Amino acid sequence: MTRVVRIDPQRPDLERLREAAAVLRDGGLVAFPTETVYGLGAHALNATAVARIFEAKGRPAIDPLIVHLASVDQLEAVAHAVPHVARELAAAFWPGALTLILEKHSIVPEAVTAGLRTVGVRVPSHPIAHELIAMAAVPVAAPSANRFSRPSPTCVEHVLADLDGVVDVVIDGGPTPIGLESTILDLTVAPPLVRRPGGVSLAEIRRIVPDAQSGSALADRDRAQPSPGQLLRHYAPRATLTLYIGAVAMVTERMANDIRRAVASGVRVGVLAPEEDLLALAPRLAAVGAGGRVVTMRCGTRRDRDEAARDLFRTLRALDAEGVDVMFASAPAGEGIDAAIIDRLTRAAEGRVVHT
Ligand code: TXA
Ligand code: MG
Repeated sequence: MTRVVRIDPQRPDLERLREAAAVLRDGGLVAFPTETVYGLGAHALNATAVARIFEAKGRPAIDPLIVHLASVDQLEAVAHAVPHVARELAAAFWPGALTLILEKHSIVPEAVTAGLRTVGVRVPSHPIAHELIAMAAVPVAAPSANRFSRPSPTCVEHVLADLDGVVDVVIDGGPTPIGLESTILDLTVAPPLVRRPGGVSLAEIRRIVPDAQSGSALADRDRAQPSPGQLLRHYAPRATLTLYIGAVAMVTERMANDIRRAVASGVRVGVLAPEEDLLALAPRLAAVGAGGRVVTMRCGTRRDRDEAARDLFRTLRALDAEGVDVMFASAPAGEGIDAAIIDRLTRAAEGRVVHT
């Protein structure tokens, strides 16, 4: 049985949080909001509890979990030989959407790190996540609270769609503010590598670690051993997804042609794009009578990329639910959160990327 507990992130009900924290301490599973996406938490030092995470998600055991702390003061409890630069990064970005890969402390069970000698650590800033972990008074291992190969959950409905009945408590704290997972920075390699772009940009990291490199692109696979989890087939929609990257005029011209061809061949089409792209597409599709046979989802705007990040996983889930056969997505090229959006869409496209 899954208990859903509503908690206002602005004024967290401490009594309800205390109950959820007790479930965590006792080896139970608690899904909770963070500033990035919802996490599926378990007591990180309890190997049996951690095993339940993998079971609940249907997650391969080779994919390591991130350990969440209430404060940087707990870092030495889970990581070993913490370099000075980790403290500088923590001072700059914690609490927040940055995960640091460090040498692991022997106390962290192998189940958490998938047998690696390193551990991913992060101090989330979301008030509910923070209070919950502080009250549990243990490190909390938490992957995103979705079934394996589904988009990460950005609201409680997504968590329940994937995990109802298999977790003990789900905390409903409303939609998550960032909507994409944390940036993962590996400090155990030289130069430090961004294994997954996310809420904190490479440019921001370089202010503190000038030689940090981007290591997440699929094309970089040969250059360095990627994060094990990043190699796995990630979110993959049932439909075939093609990603178009570029300026609105070029992108929509290419997309309109491909959409027309797909509609003519009789398949159901879904489009996920910023508002500007949908506006530019509408007359082109209407002209050939394809307008009504295409499901469109607005994914933010080109002006507000934070909004696009927040919309991404929700709109991907919604298009999946429409049962379309092919999906066309568009995104502007860019740094920061745009790099993270393109990373997630490129994985979903499994390499079908058109640069215009
Ligand atoms: O924003 C986030 O990071 C969210 C919230 C809940 O904190 N969590 C999240 O966890 O996205 P998950 O499990 O979906 O993705 C974590 C990824 C793994 O797939 C793996 O690639 C990488 O982090 N990772 C974890 N530990 C690692 C390690 N020791 N070495 C390399 N990569 C690691
Ligand atoms: Mg995940």
